[in-house]
Amino acid sequence: MTRQPFFYDITLRDGNQSLKKPWNIKEKELIFNKLVDFGVQAVEAGFPAASEMDFDAVKRLAEIAPSNLVISGLARAVEHDIKKGIEAISICKRPRLHTFIAMSPFNMKYVLNKNPEDVRKTAIEAVSFAKSEIIKVNKDAEVQFSVEHFGDCMENLPFVIDTLKEVVKAGATVINLPNTVERTRVKTFVDMVEQVYNALPKDIMIAVHCHNDLGMATAATVESYFAGATQLECSLNGLGERAGNTNMYEVAVALHNSGVDVPLNLGEIYELALTISDMSKVPVAEKAPLIGPEALAHRSGIHQDGAVKTKDMEKGAYRPIHPTLIGRKDDEKIGFTSQSGKTAVFEIISDAGYPITIQEAVRITPIVKEAAEKAGELPTRSIIDIYFNEIFNVKGDFRLVSFEKLAENVFNLKFFHKTEFFDMNAQGNGPVDACLSALKQAGFPQKLVDYEQYALDGEISGSGASAMTVIHFEDLQGNVILARGKDESTLKANVKAIFNGLNLMNR
Ligand code: KIV
Ligand code: ZN
Repeated sequence: MTRQPFFYDITLRDGNQSLKKPWNIKEKELIFNKLVDFGVQAVEAGFPAASEMDFDAVKRLAEIAPSNLVISGLARAVEHDIKKGIEAISICKRPRLHTFIAMSPFNMKYVLNKNPEDVRKTAIEAVSFAKSEIIKVNKDAEVQFSVEHFGDCMENLPFVIDTLKEVVKAGATVINLPNTVERTRVKTFVDMVEQVYNALPKDIMIAVHCHNDLGMATAATVESYFAGATQLECSLNGLGERAGNTNMYEVAVALHNSGVDVPLNLGEIYELALTISDMSKVPVAEKAPLIGPEALAHRSGIHQDGAVKTKDMEKGAYRPIHPTLIGRKDDEKIGFTSQSGKTAVFEIISDAGYPITIQEAVRITPIVKEAAEKAGELPTRSIIDIYFNEIFNVKGDFRLVSFEKLAENVFNLKFFHKTEFFDMNAQGNGPVDACLSALKQAGFPQKLVDYEQYALDGEISGSGASAMTVIHFEDLQGNVILARGKDESTLKANVKAIFNGLNLMNR
């Protein structure tokens, strides 16, 4: 599809009117500049007739608006509001007066107390008046007309369509179809949007403005785009009356993922979301799609496995986007609970900078799981503590008492095997060789297949140890077992690794 969506921001109007403390001019200006950077095509700057502050704010934003940006001011379908609206926006290059009236049978009867013919007349007259006034200040200025409560107009859709044809003749070039209160199916709404789109001239821009009362505003907006709506009215962070308006980030990403050319700087989404949350005092929900702290967290073993296997790929097994698409730097989060598995242990320990193999992760996972069953999600520190306990202090039948150098290449090894005490002197080509030779004399021969030594920095050792030894033993079945030892002295790190290996082999 080549038609580009036209993003019409309503954060500063519908979003602002829903805040416990609406923004002042300075705050509106700050957000406005962010919207310009984000790349929206239009900003509904406020409702100028609502208050002097709103009038001044709209006027100020119209003054500083870039020449390609549409600045819209909302006005009820009454002359006073329309005049105020035009006065506030007229200075910008692309002013648009946005007027509206409800047309649902319920609202016309119980809220407006008007019959449909009066509503039709009011709508046509308001648009005609707005158009004649606004082109006096700017010949290219536009008028947008909204059918408030359009989503409730299933029964009288023919009346709405007929009226809209008249409204278009009166000068409106943008027809907005709000789901002012989301009550039923997305499909019902989208079908109605499609019927209006098919009934009106093709040079009329169809807009949708969906509220999120049932949590389906994004779906309604995205599907309306595919049904013919070009102008998508959305707000930052989904701010708006009650459960909010359509969330701009979700719509933008859903369209992007569907192959639509989205004219927004998607990489700014995450920072923008945090700023707006801060400025609106509306926290980002933990589970908010895309931007929530939990939106990229994985806790089940299966999901963690898939997430880790695809973490460097653009498409992830368990995420809708790569986090960098929206400027999120924090990668997919792996949290360890009773539902998690070895991949999580491996990732958490490795990410914290500690050496671990997948076999070691498999070995300690049941212990980490047991702790998580009692405590819930474990902090990284607790998992690291378990790692140190289990990897560097393997319990079993063998217990090291001491290992000392007696002379060049001569060592003494004291240890218990179960309750039996051994005190052996042995010669060897270095401490590892001597220790293995002492064990062999005591009746515990081992096949060493590999051996490495590392220097540790204090951070990694967790206890001031400065040396780590990694040994690989082969058991009688040919399985290779890896064991680690750490200590301040390299000599002791060697022997501790050997005893950890012995205990692992004899489990
Ligand atoms: O929700 C709505 O119907 C509105 C109109 C004023 C467009 O905000
Ligand atoms: Zn609204």
